[in-house]
Amino acid sequence: MTRAAPPPAAALDDRDGVIWLDGEFVPWRTARLHVLSHGLHYGGSVFEGERAYGGQVFKLSEHSARLVASARLMGFELPWSAAELDAATRETVAVAGLTDGYVRPVAWRGSDTLRLVAPDTSVHVAVAAWPWPRIFTDGPRGIRLRTSRWRRPAPDTAPVTAKTAAAYALGSLAGQEAEEAGCDDALLLDHRGRLAEATGANLFLVLDGALHTPPPECVLDGITRRTVIALAHALGLTVVERHLAPAELDRATEVFLTGTAYEVQPVTAVDDRHYPLGEVGAALAAAYARAVRGEEALPGPGFASAATPGERG
Ligand SMILES: Cc1ncc(COP(=O)(O)O)c(C=O)c1O
Repeated sequence: MTRAAPPPAAALDDRDGVIWLDGEFVPWRTARLHVLSHGLHYGGSVFEGERAYGGQVFKLSEHSARLVASARLMGFELPWSAAELDAATRETVAVAGLTDGYVRPVAWRGSDTLRLVAPDTSVHVAVAAWPWPRIFTDGPRGIRLRTSRWRRPAPDTAPVTAKTAAAYALGSLAGQEAEEAGCDDALLLDHRGRLAEATGANLFLVLDGALHTPPPECVLDGITRRTVIALAHALGLTVVERHLAPAELDRATEVFLTGTAYEVQPVTAVDDRHYPLGEVGAALAAAYARAVRGEEALPGPGFASAATPGERG
C-alpha cells in the first residue's frame, strides 16, 4: 500500500547530488538499503548529526569518534576508522559544494540474517550532506516545550549514551505528541523523574545567574553541551552539572537547549511556565556562533584533543 498523501516536495530521498556509501559516491536517489536489514528491524543502526559552517564540519573528529563508540556500544565495529570517517565526511562536504548545512553519517547492520543476535552481519556506512539552515524555521524566537509522559530510560535499561536509532523511537514519539499538543518539542524526564533533555538537544537552566544542566548519565553527552560549557566558563559563568527536579523550572530565569542541529536554542515556555529570551542564553548563542566559524577560541585543557591540527574546535 502506498501513502494516501503525496510526499512533501522536498522529500529527503529525492535530491540531486551524491551520497558516500560504503566507500564510494552513489547518486543520491539510489542510496538505498535492503528491506530485510537488521538496522531497520532491530535497531542495529547508529548515526551522527553534524553541521558544516563555511565548508568545515564543526567538531568533526568528536562526531566520528562518537559514531565509532556508539556502534561498539551496540555490539558492532564499523569497517572504517574514525580518521577514515573524518576523511569521507570532508570529501562528502566538498563534493556537495556545501558551505553551511547538515551532515548525516549513518551506519547499520545489513540484511545477512533475520536473527536478532547477528555478530557477523555486514555493516554499512553512509554520509549525506545538504543545505539545512535551521531546525526551527521562525528565526531566533524561543520555542515551547511540553513535558512528555515518556521518560529517558535508566543506563542499565538501554545503552543511553549510544546515538543509536534504537533509542530514537522514544524521541520520535515524544516529539510527535508535543507537536500534536501545539508545542515545538518535548521535554523528557529521566527514569527517576528528574529533568533530562529534549528529543534532540541537552537542557540548561539559569538559576541565580549560574548554568545548571543534568549530568550525561541518562542523556546524550552532547558535543554542543560540552562546547557551551567551555564557552560559559570563558565568559566567567558558573556551570553546575547535577540532577535537577522538575520543580526547579519554577525558579529558572532562563531555559535553553543545546545541540548540533538546535545550536543554542532559547526556550520561552515549558508547559505553563514562561521564560524571557534572556541575556545568558543570548551571550552563549553569540559565542557559539563565533566558535563554529572559528572566530572564538575554545578554551579548556584537553578540550580539543580529538581534533586534528588545523580543524576548528
Ligand atoms: C537526544 C539528544 N540529546 C542531545 C543531543 C545533542 O548532542 P550534540 O550536541 O552532540 O548534537 C542530541 C543530538 O545529537 C540528541 O539527539
